[in-house]
Amino acid sequence: MNLVLFGPPGAGKGTQSKKLEEYYGIPQISTGDMLRAARTAKTPLGLEAEKFMVAGKLVPDAVITGLMEERLKGKDCEGGFILDGFPRTISQAESLQGTLKGQKRRLDRVINIDVDEEELAKRLTGRRQCSQCNRGYHLRFAPPQKAGFCDRCGGALFQRDDDKEDTIRARLKVYRDQTQPLIDHYRHGGLLVTVKGEAPVEEVFDSIVKVLEKDGVNAKVSAS
Ligand code: AP5
Ligand code: MG
Ligand code: ZN
Repeated sequence: MNLVLFGPPGAGKGTQSKKLEEYYGIPQISTGDMLRAARTAKTPLGLEAEKFMVAGKLVPDAVITGLMEERLKGKDCEGGFILDGFPRTISQAESLQGTLKGQKRRLDRVINIDVDEEELAKRLTGRRQCSQCNRGYHLRFAPPQKAGFCDRCGGALFQRDDDKEDTIRARLKVYRDQTQPLIDHYRHGGLLVTVKGEAPVEEVFDSIVKVLEKDGVNAKVSAS
């Protein structure tokens, strides 16, 4: 199953794709996580991406499409994948289609997680992430048992530097201007299904699984 999880910043793409990864045994591929890891490692990619990310802007298409072309060759993607945060422009969508065509496969579904802007801002300002295992938290909606530390591994929690109010506003505008047009693109292609993303995490997950079951993905699949 080759899946895209689509939606504005804070819609729950990361939260849901991690759950789907576990459930279906296919990898979550998050361009945001890849770029943040490159920034931490101070690689040339990370250094180039940093100035765009801090400003809430998109990293240039050529950088992202090159990165994803390589990533999709990974052995772990042979049984399918869940894309989180990619594609984000029409040009990225076209590049993805070309890459998959070259591999004799295509997208099966684009799940659009729909959440109201006011709710998005609340989610993003309260989000915290584990510095060790990447697990996500929310100060109100999914708080850790011990403030500031990860329940799973004890790692320190941090706030993403693009989760500050000004940058959140910039990211939402970039989403509206550059990414939202993909909704029509995928609707015309017959791939889009919209799920309501404002319900609790488990309910949103159930509605995504229901969509996929309707498509014939009935049971857990393994990555092989
Ligand atoms: P990226 O990391 O992709 O960020 P984003 O798209 O802005 O999305 P987020 O990760 O902020 O939100 P999410 O939908 O994953 O929500 P989450 O599950 O965490 O990109 C960051 C930057 O990298 C970009 O700005 C750009 O610069 C660059 N970049 C990345 N990809 C690129 C690309 N393809 N092209 C160009 N540039 C690119 O949930 C949010 C919070 O809400 C969490 O705290 C969570 O616990 C909580 N929550 C989730 N679901 C629920 C729920 N149902 N109820 C209550 N709380 C919930
Ligand atoms: Mg995310
Ligand atoms: Zn952790």
